[in-house]
Amino acid sequence: AFSNLYGVHPFYMCIENDFNAHGVLLLNSNAQDVTLSPFPSITFRTIGGVLDFYMFLGPTPENVIQQYTEAIGRPYMPPYWSLGFQLCRWGYNSIDVLKKTVERLRQYDIPHDVQYGDIDYMERHLDFTYDKANFAGLPEYIKELKNDGLHYVIILDPFLTKDEPQGTYKPYELGEELGIWVNNSDGVTPFVGKAWPPGDSVYPDYTNPQTAEWWIHMCTEFKNVLDYDGIWIDMNEPANFHSDHHPNCEENNLNYPPYVPDISGGLLAEKTLCPNSKTYLGYHYDTHSLFGWSQAKPTFYASQNATGKRAFVLSRSTFVGSGKYTGHWLGDNFSRWKDMHMSIIGMLEFNLFGIPYIGADICGFNEETTYELCLRWMQLGAFYPFSRNHNAIGNKEQDPGAFGEEFAEISRSALRIRYLLLPYLYTLFYHAHVSGNTVVRGLMHEFTSDPQAQEIDRAFLWGPALMIAPVLEEGARSVDVYFPEASWFDFYTGSHVPVSWKRRFVDVPAPLDIIPLFIRGGYILPTQFPARTTELSRLNPFSLIIALDEQGEASGSLFWDDGDSIDSIEREEYFYVEYQFSNKALKATVIKNGYHGIATLAYDTIQVLGFTSKPNVVFMNGETIPSNRIQYNSNGKTILWISVPLFQELTISFAY
Ligand code: GLC
Repeated sequence: AFSNLYGVHPFYMCIENDFNAHGVLLLNSNAQDVTLSPFPSITFRTIGGVLDFYMFLGPTPENVIQQYTEAIGRPYMPPYWSLGFQLCRWGYNSIDVLKKTVERLRQYDIPHDVQYGDIDYMERHLDFTYDKANFAGLPEYIKELKNDGLHYVIILDPFLTKDEPQGTYKPYELGEELGIWVNNSDGVTPFVGKAWPPGDSVYPDYTNPQTAEWWIHMCTEFKNVLDYDGIWIDMNEPANFHSDHHPNCEENNLNYPPYVPDISGGLLAEKTLCPNSKTYLGYHYDTHSLFGWSQAKPTFYASQNATGKRAFVLSRSTFVGSGKYTGHWLGDNFSRWKDMHMSIIGMLEFNLFGIPYIGADICGFNEETTYELCLRWMQLGAFYPFSRNHNAIGNKEQDPGAFGEEFAEISRSALRIRYLLLPYLYTLFYHAHVSGNTVVRGLMHEFTSDPQAQEIDRAFLWGPALMIAPVLEEGARSVDVYFPEASWFDFYTGSHVPVSWKRRFVDVPAPLDIIPLFIRGGYILPTQFPARTTELSRLNPFSLIIALDEQGEASGSLFWDDGDSIDSIEREEYFYVEYQFSNKALKATVIKNGYHGIATLAYDTIQVLGFTSKPNVVFMNGETIPSNRIQYNSNGKTILWISVPLFQELTISFAY
């Protein structure tokens, strides 16, 4: 059955019959439902607030999202390390299990950039504490991980127990003193609910500027205890374990309005606060859907302030504009094939919502996963912008080191493709941050007038140039892939796919160790040799994959900076180069040379896909490249071995 999830985005993008796209936002935070009919028609039904409609006229799908994010705020620029593979679970339960898990990824040489602490790192689920018994030595271990190039992210929940002995739990006592909780309808007594911590809890009201100050203060202080790099904010719908509040919310029109949208439980207070509780901005009735949104911004500044580096925030609840401050994961999915498929749809949606930093719990959260499901999910998850394997408490281990040699090797190879392509992914995030483009997009964004492409939700693109067609069915060893009108190259071989495949579904082989990937002709992808962490991969040589279109042309770009300093783009401390291939020549034009760290980086290979015959001579900046540095394969893939600094302007021409 359909039911409400963690956030609200009253926005749609539509492609009309003439293939022009538009978007509509109803900027309204009240409980609402949306009904589609085949007329076609759409009905928004909200039970409060203002009817503020915004239209975005496109005309292309990408234009709509550029315009939408211009209005609501462009996505933040993620730290480079947060594009690496991340591992989490609820219920390591002890530092020994945590260490063993991390160690086996290292043994298998599986890329691993980020390790998480879920609520079991805390002492009795109390924010701003850690369990000194089961996680004795955690602060030292975090330092160790960081010395090894990893990053550590902690979870924080938006409720604090009010029932600890007086004088023992400062975060609560300070907040109580400041009067920063969500209150009952009287506006002065705190609303009390029940969540993870022992006793009853109060909820920080993040719409209150004083709460933001308190939160930033607490997070910054806690950095001295656990040396974290980012903050994961959960349960911020906000969650309350009492369904209709206990004792019940008062009988009135706010708590029990005459019309209740089709939400789970049929009750506004279901698993949350009474609608007549009061925030700084007004009744919870009006601000419920803004809770996670209002927490994201102060958490962004808390992360930035505490670490002195680029913020990393991951939020479960989001609203219009959240993408300026936070990424998102799709919440508590199940270890089921269907949920793996649904994750693609969720990922495409959040790219429309201006939250391109998105992914689902790889291998599934609830229930036990299986070898094959988890393996296929590791392959798909290697192409989530936010790539994290996460598991619920009590389930068997499902990290990529948990299933033995074969599983580890296959996961490693999928993740190494991700790491190879990270410069391309990071550049897509740059374009999202400055121009509002999507990072992951549906085929319909690029092939808008192709009715078949409009329907695809089992494959997706990274930017305009890379198609990912994962296996989503148990036992399948091939995938039915739709190839829209373009030149496509098999990622693994560099071979041109047959012309006869165009505008058709073709069953392509996908043995257990392969996720089908295709590069679109007309594009140049910057890559970098992979490593176990991004700290190491960022030192490696770069390459270009130049995939030619039917006219023998291609273009692309590379954005690069130190990867984790604050506002490097705004401060112009970055490097940006544009690539153009035409008339049988590649030209790299440096547009911005503001990052000094570029000096030590170099290209070591250039690959061209789609030549129809072997070039006689290749010139680089006027000089002939020795023939033993050129390899031409019969499938048209040509590789040049070069050694050129990244900052150098480059012209490579091919003569026949
Ligand atoms: C919620 C989160 C999940 C987390 C759990 C414990 O269910 O969605 O990711 O593991 O709480 O903190």
